[in-house]
Amino acid sequence: MYNNIEELIKSKIIRNQKIYNSIINSLRKYDKNYSFKDKKILEIGPGKSLLLAIIFILKGAKKVYLVDKYKKIFDNSINLMLYNLFIKYYITRHNSHNFTDFDSIKKKIIYFSKNAIENFNILRKETIDFIFSNAVLEHVYNLKLTIEKINLLLKKGGITYHQVDLKDHVHIRDKCYLDFLKYPEKYWRFIGDTNRIRYSQYLKIFKKFNFDLLEINSRKLKSKGISIIKKDFNKEFQKLSDEDLSIISFNILAKKPNSGEVIAKKYYWNL
Ligand SMILES: C[S@@+](CC[C@H](N)C(=O)[O-])C[C@H]1O[C@@H](n2cnc3c(N)ncnc32)[C@H](O)[C@@H]1O
Repeated sequence: MYNNIEELIKSKIIRNQKIYNSIINSLRKYDKNYSFKDKKILEIGPGKSLLLAIIFILKGAKKVYLVDKYKKIFDNSINLMLYNLFIKYYITRHNSHNFTDFDSIKKKIIYFSKNAIENFNILRKETIDFIFSNAVLEHVYNLKLTIEKINLLLKKGGITYHQVDLKDHVHIRDKCYLDFLKYPEKYWRFIGDTNRIRYSQYLKIFKKFNFDLLEINSRKLKSKGISIIKKDFNKEFQKLSDEDLSIISFNILAKKPNSGEVIAKKYYWNL
């Protein structure tokens, strides 16, 4: 796929900078002076690279915590080369001299691997300023416990951002973006790697925890045929509106209220 290692490195840097830009642009629409300086940040499901965490440290974050269900990040020579090249490039471009290499940055990044966010109990409650994820919430086993955990860890007034891909990840190459909604739940548990929760259900869960929804950008299926393909869907999805089903990805920026409002009860779940 890539002709050489430089191309691979370049593509990784571009992708991670793009994710960072989406996050900061969304935050700055809500607060034009928003900065990560001295903030404690938590990324859920970072995947295979520390690059995004490094960007946050370079932007002044105090600490970046990474929580992933699996161990996917290793200090191998390609990663170390990637991190150091990126840091060098960043320092030159931004004329920033706070850090010189990866060794000076890595002390500020704490990686909790083999920790599903739903059961993660290591950090103290209300200690994190900003929690985010990219292409992760659709994979979590229990979304309600996940949002509950985000709510617990965020400081009052803290912010959370998530990019969520609602598409079928199994048939994605065939561009059958919603095909997976046909499978009965008992089969899906064996073959699927996403939770199939739909857009309106995400919003309900965020609202149940009293989050203020600051910004939501959703992308819809182009085809107008949703009402036709919907007939083949599992009953639980047929109940949802065409509008809801046609949303194939979204990003959300939400805030935990500042006041001490009572949070939704743990078992108050019938959506
Ligand atoms: C599709 S990858 C996305 C990785 C990375 N954020 C990116 O954009 O490249 C999903 C990641 O979420 C992690 N993950 C899945 N379920 C999780 C959970 N319950 N708690 C924490 N991490 C989880 C996976 O191990 C994986 O690293």
